[in-house]
Amino acid sequence: MDKILVRGGNRLKGEIVISGAKNAALPAMAASLLTSDKVTISNVPQLGDVKTASKLLGEIGVIVENKKPNVLEIDSSDLNRNEVPYELVKTMRASCLLLAPLLVRCGEVRLSLPGGCAIGERPINLHIKGLEAMGAKIRLEHGYIIASANRLVGNRVYFDTSSVTGTENIMMAAVLAEGETAIENAAKEPEIGCLANMLRSMGAKIEGDGTDTIKIQGVSSLSGCRHTIIPDRIETGTFMVAAAITGGELLLKDTVPQHSEALIVKLRELGVEVEEKGSSILVRGNGEHRSVDISTSPYPGFPTDMQAQFMALLTTAQGSAVVTENVFENRFMHVAEMKRMGADIKVKGKSAFVKGVKELSGAPLMATDLRASASLILAALAANGESTISRVYHLDRGYERIEEKLLRVGANIERLK
Ligand code: UD1
Repeated sequence: MDKILVRGGNRLKGEIVISGAKNAALPAMAASLLTSDKVTISNVPQLGDVKTASKLLGEIGVIVENKKPNVLEIDSSDLNRNEVPYELVKTMRASCLLLAPLLVRCGEVRLSLPGGCAIGERPINLHIKGLEAMGAKIRLEHGYIIASANRLVGNRVYFDTSSVTGTENIMMAAVLAEGETAIENAAKEPEIGCLANMLRSMGAKIEGDGTDTIKIQGVSSLSGCRHTIIPDRIETGTFMVAAAITGGELLLKDTVPQHSEALIVKLRELGVEVEEKGSSILVRGNGEHRSVDISTSPYPGFPTDMQAQFMALLTTAQGSAVVTENVFENRFMHVAEMKRMGADIKVKGKSAFVKGVKELSGAPLMATDLRASASLILAALAANGESTISRVYHLDRGYERIEEKLLRVGANIERLK
């Protein structure tokens, strides 16, 4: 299994082009099943989860072609299966995004229930409740959710917790339902807007995406489209922290600075210089950071997907900080590894108390989930000496060529096969 070797201490300097967002590409691939016409999706990042999603679509009879880099052409005219097996759901929870499209397309879907994952229990009860409110009959059998409906009927769907993929599933269910659906307490993440734009270009009638209430008027059919995925705000954030933690200077190109506002505000409070220039962000770290507290919440709050990376930065900041994780219940797996590098962190309930130390020291490290692995790479870039990070398949799930991008801006990093 691959490992990543990092020799810490280099200041990063240069430009990095940001890839398309994983969390926008996966729903777009799922939405392509809402039509039997061809759908072309550009700016798709080439990473593990996209490969898993392509494989999954292949298994249900969908042709996914990748003739040009970062462009997928999806033809689901011969879709012939409506089952999403455990083997795939367990490697990628986002497989649950196929629940609504397959139900709408086939009238019945069998989706393996996702179990827990490294960052918590992660149920999909809200997806199920939403579909039931729209008339789907749902039962559980042998670990599978079996949902069936002739044509879904628009309704009011209220989420008591904001859910990104839950909102996306109900949007995909509502576009072809009879009548109007109002999704209340909808997620407002930029990836929701990206999906809404794609669905609109297929002929869907959607208003209010980016606000608490999304209204969708069902139509009788959707057509093919060409759609471009938005830049990845979490990849952007990860490289912003890379510049800060190494006291370096990075220009991040082809991104949307407004999607990273919560992080930018916190980086500035910490003493990092951040300039927003059109579709680029210039980040300059000076190596001296003041501790600041963070508390994760749904967009536009501080993203849970940046909590681990930001904590890496706090481990050597001056003073103490409290990191509060409000979105997932078990998202501090990186703490034990950071402590092995000399970090001073105590976890109590949903908060981690981080006291800045002078420096981290390199160590053999184990990645536990996607964003935790990124945080360990960041910590290793700043640490004194050598670190090896194993189980990098977690990292490969969500970052496109991360070590290549870091190498080009001066990191001492290599992949050991
Ligand atoms: C998505 C992102 C993930 C990110 C997360 C939160 C994708 C593919 N993944 O995951 O990277 O970390 O948003 O920003 O877009 N919940 C329930 N019942 C449900 C659904 C969710 O209780 O039916 C809870 C979850 O346990 C969690 C919270 O709601 O505590 C938010 O989860 P949700 O927004 O659904 O996360 P995902 O869509 O799985």
